[in-house]
Amino acid sequence: MGAAMSDNSAPIGVFDSGVGGLTVAREILRQMPGERIVYFGDTARLPYGSKSKDTVIRYSKQIIRFLMTKNVKAIVVACNTASSLALEELQSYVGLPMMGVIHAGAKAAVEATRNGKIGVIGTEGTIRSDIYRQMMTAMKPGVEVCQKACPLFVPLVEEGFFHDSVTDEIASRYLADLKQRYVDTLVLGCTHYPLLRSTLGRLMGEGVVLVNPAFETALELRKALGEAGILRGRGEPALHEFYVSDMAEKFTAFATSIMPEYVKETKLVNIEVY
Ligand code: DGL
Repeated sequence: MGAAMSDNSAPIGVFDSGVGGLTVAREILRQMPGERIVYFGDTARLPYGSKSKDTVIRYSKQIIRFLMTKNVKAIVVACNTASSLALEELQSYVGLPMMGVIHAGAKAAVEATRNGKIGVIGTEGTIRSDIYRQMMTAMKPGVEVCQKACPLFVPLVEEGFFHDSVTDEIASRYLADLKQRYVDTLVLGCTHYPLLRSTLGRLMGEGVVLVNPAFETALELRKALGEAGILRGRGEPALHEFYVSDMAEKFTAFATSIMPEYVKETKLVNIEVY
């Protein structure tokens, strides 16, 4: 986080290409139950994972302009793809403190590995960016990073196929290379993958540590807000706001399954005008 933060009662802006970023919002609220969240899911334009860097930067800038109208005190880029492709550009674009999900996940992985072999799974965009490998080798020279794009996981999760023989079959194929390389740590480098945690854990085997960047990012955020003296703390129950660019009801239904008590209503936003 860079710039100075001000009003501690202001909300935290969290954005993603769709519903997946709720895994990050959920961790933030678990670890900082007093905080207020304004969430935006770009459901009209997902997936980001197969889009170019320029497009993801353009979309992310529009979302940031929207979130700034909500007077957020900080922004969390919950989407791994947007964090990979756009965070650097976005940080210089606005004076607001901003955090992506890659740094915290990479740090937890290099701390967790015992044999120095780390697997990373994510969207095509995240894996193509090579950012996890670059960050992890800078943090711990000599680590071996084996990366694999798993584009079918997002639709499987959105279909609710968390525990399913089809998911098992696809995951076995995706994970085969990583298993052959004996990675002892696996970064779940996409918003949706924590929802496949038990399947991925079972297929990788007991000795493999699964790193959830959503959890690690919430820890990093709590530290940053605490250091800046702007944690909201517990007080009045916070009223969170949820916005999407399309299919608000579908979002609410999925959101309710991920974080039941929080999502009362989802509002539509025409993000193209921002
Ligand atoms: N939220 C994206 C990510 O974490 C996954 C979905 C998409 O491709 O838009 O990379």
